[in-house]
Amino acid sequence: MTISKNTIHPLVANRRSPRAFDRDRKISPEMLSNLLEAARWAPSANNIQPWRFIVGQKNDATHQKIVSTLSEGNRIWAEHAPILILAVTQEEGERGKQSYAWHDLGLATTQMVLQASAMELYAHIMAGFSKDEARSAFSIPAEYVPLTVIAIGYLGDVENLPEKLQAREKAPRIRKTLDEIAFQNTWGEPLA
Ligand SMILES: Cc1cc2nc3c(=O)[nH]c(=O)nc-3n(C[C@H](O)[C@H](O)[C@H](O)COP(=O)(O)O)c2cc1C
Repeated sequence: MTISKNTIHPLVANRRSPRAFDRDRKISPEMLSNLLEAARWAPSANNIQPWRFIVGQKNDATHQKIVSTLSEGNRIWAEHAPILILAVTQEEGERGKQSYAWHDLGLATTQMVLQASAMELYAHIMAGFSKDEARSAFSIPAEYVPLTVIAIGYLGDVENLPEKLQAREKAPRIRKTLDEIAFQNTWGEPLA
């Protein structure tokens, strides 16, 4: 079964995770609110809505604190993004363990990323940051776990990146084929 990237919706087809963000172009409060609103309307198991977002805007204390938690390899480019969002999920609720908390944060994040796409913004999700430092910097309670940082902004000039990152930015994007991920009848049998 082959589906061309050209036949999927442009919001999905055009999404990618850039490292070059425009260092000057700001995100308006309305756009920021739209991003969070898109996440808010995500589905979740039992409608628990385990996601929480700590929002940093360039030059504010939250942005600086998020930057300080990033791994070196991420900090070098992500510190220039106008918005950095620390995405957190609630693993333990009133009724015990919330097994789908990670899944549901992923759904909310996806909605945010696609909303970004719809506003001609780009988002880059990162796991490379210190969860311990993030927990301590923002006094995150024990039942919540910080999972990702999402950098959001307008596309910037690739030439501003260090050479090594420029090469990665220009490298082709690779995916498994549909035959490798979609089955029928039994495990591993590709969908006809
Ligand atoms: C949970 C998660 C963690 C990620 N962590 C990082 C990261 O720490 N640094 C990074 O540069 N990219 C990170 N990425 C981005 C992936 O590398 C990227 O999505 C993947 O290579 C596919 O590229 P594309 O998003 O442009 O299609 C992460 C993505 C996800 C979903």
